[in-house]
Amino acid sequence: MKELKVELGQRSYPILIGKGLLGDPELFVNIIHSSQVMVVSNTTIASLYLPQLLDTLADFSPLSYVIADGESHKNLTVMNEIVTQLLENKFSRNCTLIALGGGVVGDITGFAAACYQRGANYIQIPTTLLAQVDSSVGGKTAVNHEIGKNMIGAFHQPIAVYSDSDVLDTLPDRELSAGLAEVIKYGLIRDPVFFTWLENNIESLRDRDDECLQYAIERSCQNKAEVVADDEREQGQRALLNFGHTFAHAVETGLNYKDWLHGEAVGLGMLMAADLSCRSGWITETDLARIRDLLIKAGLPIKLPEQFEISNMRELMSVDKKAKDGQLFLVVLKSIGDAVVTNEFDENLLQLTVEQFSSVKGKN
Ligand code: NAD
Ligand code: GLY
Repeated sequence: MKELKVELGQRSYPILIGKGLLGDPELFVNIIHSSQVMVVSNTTIASLYLPQLLDTLADFSPLSYVIADGESHKNLTVMNEIVTQLLENKFSRNCTLIALGGGVVGDITGFAAACYQRGANYIQIPTTLLAQVDSSVGGKTAVNHEIGKNMIGAFHQPIAVYSDSDVLDTLPDRELSAGLAEVIKYGLIRDPVFFTWLENNIESLRDRDDECLQYAIERSCQNKAEVVADDEREQGQRALLNFGHTFAHAVETGLNYKDWLHGEAVGLGMLMAADLSCRSGWITETDLARIRDLLIKAGLPIKLPEQFEISNMRELMSVDKKAKDGQLFLVVLKSIGDAVVTNEFDENLLQLTVEQFSSVKGKN
């Protein structure tokens, strides 16, 4: 088992990465200091892993609340249902919530914990690759608004993150590829050596080689933990973690959070940001080709979906948390492993990038 730490003073917490964590009561006894515990999961994950986790937590007589599966349920209505459960069961502020699931369950549970009586503890048990390498670490919690993704949320750090690689056995291939997009992100924004390692090991990762997967999770979490420790509330460098996300959120919102997975949208968003970087003369054609090749080998789509109306793209991109005084800021690449946030991009080049990725004939 590997142990990393997110260094945030009194709010520091461990990230454990290994096998069999879901079945280890010690991990919970050591960190939960209340008798009121509620596990939040969704229908898919609950049927696979909730009984085992409830068994492990038996000493706490935990409650559980199972939400519907899907991004469209990451909303205020479902968050309110979770809070209602806590209130009906007379949970006090020192209760502990446990998020057992992917990024959707993690984000909504974390947000419920952030709001419940102005802040309860929660533990992240991420069950998708994407959640293990990104969303469970760093304390960003949120639900979606119909006008924009993750627009209602809070920074609220978990007290621990337990990433059990065993649960990835049941993850569909498409979800694994979506998680690889966020893994590739760390290579692109700050870790060129890791990017090269990924180029050399992408097939093994897709074949779920356990050693490779655990290494990719560890290196990703190490990168994320360093960024979060330096800039917890995104005053600066943390914005780089949103590489590709302005494009991705526009795609997801334009598709009403249906059809495409978040990681798929991030993969294409990173390629679009790299394309804009190349058009702007900041990265070479060779680097752009390396990025495109790795995303293809990771099993990610590299064209906008046909049903996406590209004329809406720019407007959708303007609903972005990096926007300041109505101005759009984008994360762009200066090389593989070096990203910056800028508003000094050419709108005409951005338009060319958007058109380049349209899959509708006649719009290219
Ligand atoms: P998800 O939570 O919807 O999970 C993907 C699918 O996989 C779901 O159908 C889920 O039920 C299923 N699943 C999960 N674990 C499984 C397992 N072990 N076996 C079989 N099926 C399993 O999606 P996601 O990709 O994990 O997360 C996406 C969400 O994360 C988005 O809402 C995104 O905004 C958010 N996110 C948040 C942050 C952050 O910093 N808070 C970062 C990145 C993404
Ligand atoms: N996923 C972006 C962040 O955590 O800041």
